[in-house]
Amino acid sequence: MLILQIIIIILLLPITLGGIFYLVEGTRYQKSDRVVYMGSDLGEQGPILEDVVSRYVKDTEEYELYEPGSGIATVATFLGQRFSWKSIVAVELRTSVYWAGRLRSYLKHRNLPMQWRREDLLSYRPTKPTVVYCYLTGTILDKMYQRGIFRGCLVICLTFEIKGIRPKEIIPLKSWQKEIRVYDFRKD
Ligand SMILES: C[S@@+](CC[C@H](N)C(=O)[O-])C[C@H]1O[C@@H](n2cnc3c(N)ncnc32)[C@H](O)[C@@H]1O
Repeated sequence: MLILQIIIIILLLPITLGGIFYLVEGTRYQKSDRVVYMGSDLGEQGPILEDVVSRYVKDTEEYELYEPGSGIATVATFLGQRFSWKSIVAVELRTSVYWAGRLRSYLKHRNLPMQWRREDLLSYRPTKPTVVYCYLTGTILDKMYQRGIFRGCLVICLTFEIKGIRPKEIIPLKSWQKEIRVYDFRKD
């Protein structure tokens, strides 16, 4: 019985410590530009994203796939498995999420050309041409747009929009995540 209790404590300890670290680091980051901490719903959005990429990009091998604020990069790895990309870049600021994503990539997606970067998404400049998938906030999208990060990219945004810019296409969703917008800045 005592052994069982010790095993349970040994198993629960890393989860508890990881949870505490996740909450504490969340107070350090994103004071002004808070983002949603939900992930994309691949059940609904996966087939739509696959369709968008196949309609807008003929030669994905020439493209970088970039997920700023990637979380554990479920979308990047989903699209990574369905198309061949020159490279797949996941940028995530939160240390715990970054390492969880790297571990998941290592265990499940070693075949993908993944590049993990633990940094602020405003400091990374994607190489061109690039497909960018964003589930962030309007404020962050506006900043990325104003800093020229989207120049030369096909940008797919879940829920939030880039203020004042007309998307090429809006795809309604049945879920509370509302819609997907496609912006094509490749010829700008
Ligand atoms: C709404 S989640 C989206 C996760 C994933 N892209 C998806 O669609 O499932 C936003 C993620 O962005 C990260 N994030 C927020 N601000 C960031 C920043 N300035 N630089 C890098 N990552 C950031 C958060 O830690 C969080 O994991």
